[in-house]
Amino acid sequence: MPKLTIHSAGKESDVNVPEGTLLIDAVRSNGFEIYAPCGGKGKCGKCKVYVRDEGHVTSCLYTIDKNVEVVLPEPAEAKILSAQYEYSRVLPLSPGRSSRLSDSPFGVAIDIGTTTLAFYFIRLTTGSLLETRTVLNPQAKYGADVISRINYCITVPEGLNTLQSELIDSINMQLAHFTESPDIKQNDIVKISICGNTTMLHILLGKNPQPLAFVPFTPVFTEEKILRASELNLHCNPRGEVKVLPSLSAYIGADIVAGIASLAPVPAHKNYLFIDVGTNGEIALVTEDRIWCCATAAGPAFEGANIEHGIGALQGAINFFHGPGDLNIIGDTRPIGICGSGLIDVVAYMLRAGNLGTDGYIEENFVVVASGISATGADIYISPKDIREIQLAKSAIATGINILLMRAGLTANDIDALYLAGGFGNYIRKESAEAIGLIPSGLSQKVVPVGNTSGTGAILAIRSVHFDRVTEEIRSRMISFDLSEDENFALQFAINMEFPERSGI
Ligand code: FES
Repeated sequence: MPKLTIHSAGKESDVNVPEGTLLIDAVRSNGFEIYAPCGGKGKCGKCKVYVRDEGHVTSCLYTIDKNVEVVLPEPAEAKILSAQYEYSRVLPLSPGRSSRLSDSPFGVAIDIGTTTLAFYFIRLTTGSLLETRTVLNPQAKYGADVISRINYCITVPEGLNTLQSELIDSINMQLAHFTESPDIKQNDIVKISICGNTTMLHILLGKNPQPLAFVPFTPVFTEEKILRASELNLHCNPRGEVKVLPSLSAYIGADIVAGIASLAPVPAHKNYLFIDVGTNGEIALVTEDRIWCCATAAGPAFEGANIEHGIGALQGAINFFHGPGDLNIIGDTRPIGICGSGLIDVVAYMLRAGNLGTDGYIEENFVVVASGISATGADIYISPKDIREIQLAKSAIATGINILLMRAGLTANDIDALYLAGGFGNYIRKESAEAIGLIPSGLSQKVVPVGNTSGTGAILAIRSVHFDRVTEEIRSRMISFDLSEDENFALQFAINMEFPERSGI
């Protein structure tokens, strides 16, 4: 049998695999994950990995017929978290009763994102954060967004069970890593808090997510759930508490509720926007008495999906572009594609340089990096279809912001700050975002990147029972509505498809 050597996160493992096995399957069956938004159908080109002596290959199309050495890309998300606590709420340490289940109790806060799972390991006696880990959501192989996951649950027998088990297995794998340390026993993990969007939380608890995809979009549950760890078969203290944080609606999940609750805005910020640009774009406009919220169908374009040379924030991604030859690549490597922040920079440049009309017209593909420089040996470019995807995504967000402002009777001038959550918020160049019309004119100076607020909310829920009160107060002020039912939606969406006028480089 051929030998497969897998290099990942500085470690190396060797396994023998039957001849003819697909590379993606061989890698996954050995506990590693590869981002595969089209579900391994060979259509999206996003599952590329580096094979020694051969270069980048599409792992879902590559069959192993000899010894192979593969180097998996490093997710860059883990690096986004260092500066995120500046605007976070501070609560007294009070982890609750389950901390009495061990003399040396630990808690784990988990943020279940559609693309990425983030884990935060916390010592409950001090509240200190010991370790942070991010891994790809193993469900990504069944589809990039929540709709395709719901669809999988509806159309595939046992689909919900499959997705639930994938999630639980992935969580257990991280719990096992954490308890590899000789002074941490499985029974010492006595509290787990879980945040995520409404679909992810339904799947986690084995609840049918089908109603989330159809009018009137009624979730099976939105309230906080408290379970014993044994009920979910989590490999920690079986009597440990698992707290699933409350959501608001089908599309305003616990990630948004806890995200807003986790913030401690500066007192001068009376009216502020909170935007989480992830696989969907959720937006909230926080005023003194109400919080107006909506979810936009921004799609995963800013995470690199549906863009010909788009990739996530991985090693080899162009994450900054100021002009030909003036760019930055994540990691010390040749570029393999463009991630969300790079994409916005490239489009902003194209507008400045006159390569792109305000109506989105481009004459030909815009080459960002030529074949001689790229790691794939092919041009990395932006196509007219990519521009269309970006127009749709940016219009969805800009329209959401405009309609929230209209509902609240405010204008962009009344906004004191724009808190931008998610990994994307940390990398995005605000000037580029304003230049392409993703955020309203004049707001780029008010952007405050706040990192993974959903993760911060889960951490606060582990550290302090007082976070429940804060979350409930925030939740009681939130009003969620369906954007597409707003009478201004169609017109606003059409207007926001245009790019703003720019001139000069
Ligand atoms: S091309 Fe391999 S997962 Fe899409």
